Amino acid sequence: MTVYLNGEFMPIEQAKIPVLDRGFIFGDGVYEVIPVYSRRAFRLAEHLARLNASLSAIRIDNPYSNARWSELLEHIIAANPWDDQGVYLQVTRGVAPRNHLFPKGLTPTVFIMADALVTPARALVESGAPAVVLQDFRWLRCDIKSVSLLGNCLLRTLAADQGAIEAILVRDGFLTEASASNIFIVRSGIVLTPPKSHLMLPGITYDVVLEILRSNGIAHEVRPVTEAELRTADEVWCTSSAKEVLAITTLDAKPVGHGADAGKPGPAFARIYPLYQQFKAKFMRAHAPTHAPTRGQD
Ligand code: PDD
Repeated sequence: MTVYLNGEFMPIEQAKIPVLDRGFIFGDGVYEVIPVYSRRAFRLAEHLARLNASLSAIRIDNPYSNARWSELLEHIIAANPWDDQGVYLQVTRGVAPRNHLFPKGLTPTVFIMADALVTPARALVESGAPAVVLQDFRWLRCDIKSVSLLGNCLLRTLAADQGAIEAILVRDGFLTEASASNIFIVRSGIVLTPPKSHLMLPGITYDVVLEILRSNGIAHEVRPVTEAELRTADEVWCTSSAKEVLAITTLDAKPVGHGADAGKPGPAFARIYPLYQQFKAKFMRAHAPTHAPTRGQD
């Protein structure tokens, strides 16, 4: 695997950072995960805009222009063997003696890596996945894509303890999101999802799903969703760059939905899933891939 660290491309084994990096000491940094389909970075401009928002929220100057980010990402995509990739990038404040106060004038640490993109297998898409509902005990700035993910990791592990793939989170009686995805529900034929706020990550996939709902005239509302509405929904979906749109078919081991369809992906999911795949296919037709591997040429 070829990675990028602070101005250089190298095999991952050679990438090293000092122990006083504030990312290591304080979790003082932000990140992005960008899905790449057939060597095309999906929604790159939107991911770079969210990166910029996360950086400015924690007062780190963006180390690169969008053009420079695009070049670096193209290089990583071309240098790695998979056509479909999950590209991970991280920016930390940099290296400094341990002190809570943000030091000024540090050189940020920039790291980029890629891995094979693993989207849900057909069997999982067809069966749907189990989730549990947990109290959202994270901080109040979940809109920042911070590398400090201890709360999310603990919640995801609590979900796994119960055999679930996701922890769907509620705070003060309202749905926020899940440990690593956003949540949509369906009630009486209307798709519902909470509005963006400091309590959830503004998902790029969330925006794509809303765009698809709008452009296909599918009834939907962006409004606060109560825990009771979540627990009695006809359908529940989670969305993320890695999961795309995935039906949640049990909540706390109880089937989601009613009647014969209970515990199975519902009719609204059967509509949104192919529309999402078509959206991706259209995107791939409209964008040229990055060029053949450049390894060894520079
Ligand atoms: N996670 N909410 C949280 C807490 C997330 O961590 C993520 C994504 C999302 C969905 O965002 P997007 O649609 O932009 O992927 C929502 C990534 C995939 C991760 O941390 O690996």
